[in-house]
Amino acid sequence: MWRTMRATTWLPIFCLLAAATAGVLQVRAQPDNIGFVSIDCGLPGTASYVDNITTLSYVPDAAFTDAGSNHNISAEYMLPRLFKRLYNVRSFPDGARNCYTIRSLVAGLKYLIRASFYHGNYDGLSRLPMFDMYIGVNFVGTVNVSSHDSLKIVEAIVVVPDDFVQVCLANTGSGTPFISSLELRPLKIKLYPLVNATQGLVLHERWNFGATDTVRYPDDPHDRIWVPWTEPSIWDSLSVNNRVTVSNDIFEQPSKVMQTAITPRNASKNIEFFWDPRPDRQHLTPRYAANMHFAELLSGNAVRQFDIYVNGDDPWYRGLYLSKSYLRSITIHNGERPYAIAHRYNISINATANSTLPPMINAIEVFSIITTTNAGTDAVDGKRMQTYAHD
Ligand SMILES: *[C@@H]1O[C@H](CO)[C@@H](O)[C@H](O)[C@H]1NC(C)=O
Ligand SMILES: *[C@@H]1O[C@H](CO)[C@@H](O)[C@H](O)[C@H]1NC(C)=O
Ligand SMILES: *[C@@H]1O[C@H](CO)[C@@H](O)[C@H](O)[C@H]1NC(C)=O
Ligand SMILES: *[C@@H]1O[C@H](CO)[C@@H](O)[C@H](O)[C@H]1NC(C)=O
Ligand SMILES: *[C@@H]1O[C@H](CO)[C@@H](O)[C@H](O)[C@H]1NC(C)=O
Ligand SMILES: *[C@@H]1O[C@H](CO)[C@@H](O)[C@H](O)[C@H]1NC(C)=O
Ligand SMILES: *[C@@H]1O[C@H](CO)[C@@H](O)[C@H](O)[C@H]1NC(C)=O
Ligand SMILES: *[C@@H]1O[C@H](CO)[C@@H](O)[C@H](O)[C@H]1NC(C)=O
Repeated sequence: MWRTMRATTWLPIFCLLAAATAGVLQVRAQPDNIGFVSIDCGLPGTASYVDNITTLSYVPDAAFTDAGSNHNISAEYMLPRLFKRLYNVRSFPDGARNCYTIRSLVAGLKYLIRASFYHGNYDGLSRLPMFDMYIGVNFVGTVNVSSHDSLKIVEAIVVVPDDFVQVCLANTGSGTPFISSLELRPLKIKLYPLVNATQGLVLHERWNFGATDTVRYPDDPHDRIWVPWTEPSIWDSLSVNNRVTVSNDIFEQPSKVMQTAITPRNASKNIEFFWDPRPDRQHLTPRYAANMHFAELLSGNAVRQFDIYVNGDDPWYRGLYLSKSYLRSITIHNGERPYAIAHRYNISINATANSTLPPMINAIEVFSIITTTNAGTDAVDGKRMQTYAHD
């Protein structure tokens, strides 16, 4: 049975776990001591606060933009368990394009840039706006607010060419742009090799199979958000306490994410799921790439080997012998070549004839690829896709 990847709006909006102590720090319009910039847009005043879940300090946004105005979301959406950074927004009723400028970055470094949008009927108008987001001059996506209580996230990984970056919202005549939070995380240059000076990645989904809770910082030192995905009717979840080794890696997926996985409930079935492309005005036929993260979680002599299919009958990756990677992470990814353009990306992970165990997967990241200059777009490459394994 095919399972669809749920829409990003499903992302959890509640803080279910209390972790660190709260505190008030001095506001800084620059990265913190680990290079993170965490902005609670629309937060009045100058005091920052520590987020209970991540232990990261969120600062008000006045030092990053001089446009727009602050609003609280409507009381009916201000639930006690909602992340504090979603309590208020900055909205931009005036001007075609309004920007945040984030300074003191490292020129030429890769950054994960994540913007969150939780409308909460802050203007009391009960309208659902739609607007565009840019990083510098590069269009990264349209924010289409589908309900007042849905969280939209636009996340991109790009090379920032200067020691500052602008994140801009463009009014496209479909309502007033607004924003709830803006987060920048520096990434080592070797991470996400598809990203270079002229090419970036926009996150489609990042799933943590078999998990019960969202994983982000501090379990993921890069503060990526790994969303749990379980389907108890067809998938069994596996979970181990042992750490999974991620060595010499170009994705640095956290051990916590690799410590859970799914296998088919019926051991003679395969794992199947799909995602559908999300075209936008600028990318009518977006190209996709995925990082599939695997680690064997069962010890013993049984054999777990499988082929990975991405549309069609020709394996995208043949004969992954996972039992050789007990508690060791291995990532199958696209190398430089995205998937051939399709209306749907059907993933099937099929045990080989030699396998005595069913197939298994721990996590997946799916991205669409954007060009980050105004130069001509790459020609679609119809040639056979290349795949690469890293462990
Ligand atoms: C998070 O911290 C705030 C401020 O100290 C506190 O009021 C709130 O109860 C905490 N939330 C959780 C879920 O612990
Ligand atoms: C927003 O909410 C905060 C906290 O409840 C409150 O102190 C502040 O006055 C509110 N601001 C506006 C503009 O209503
Ligand atoms: C925006 O979302 C609504 C559903 O909330 C959908 O009907 C509409 O087609 C979307 N518009 C675009 C341009 O994606
Ligand atoms: C970025 O990667 C793409 C795809 O491999 C390549 O075509 C392009 O030339 C690269 N750009 C730079 C600046 O290396
Ligand atoms: C498991 O899957 C196989 C192959 O599809 C099927 O023949 C068998 O009936 C299934 N078993 C159960 C218990 O559903
Ligand atoms: C994906 O699977 C569905 C259901 O089996 C099928 O109808 C569709 O043609 C497949 N799509 C592609 C692109 O292979
Ligand atoms: C892989 O498994 C799926 C689902 O069981 C099946 O439809 C498909 O034919 C299999 N592919 C091959 C090449 O065996
Ligand atoms: C299955 O095992 C046989 C015998 O060990 C081996 O020759 C063959 O290459 C294996 N097949 C795969 C797909 O690994």
